[in-house]
Amino acid sequence: MPPKFFPTRGHLLVCQGPHCQARGSSLLYRALWNHLERSGLAYYKKGGSLRLTESGCLGACSYGPTVCVYRQRGGGLEEGWYAATDFPLAARIAQAVHEGVELPAEHKYGPEGEG
Ligand code: FES
Repeated sequence: MPPKFFPTRGHLLVCQGPHCQARGSSLLYRALWNHLERSGLAYYKKGGSLRLTESGCLGACSYGPTVCVYRQRGGGLEEGWYAATDFPLAARIAQAVHEGVELPAEHKYGPEGEG
């Protein structure tokens, strides 16, 4: 029997590689998690709509903390990549995913033509 699948509106990954950790990504992850939990957006409680995961290196080590987000939008998979992400920006990214609106443009670097 497979686990029960809970549909969500998007998945945020916060890099916990060594370079991003040296720039505060551990604190960023915990602050974002607390924020999502408090506001009922974390997917496993109260029908929350966002998944949040610590990741290994996301390949932009000189520009961290690096965050990426994936979601279904416009019939396809949209991805957003962010450099030098601080908590207020991370919270805005999460809110945009929750509301299904455009991702914030600030510090967004990819993919080509969408930043
Ligand atoms: S350590 Fe974060 S992108 Fe490489």
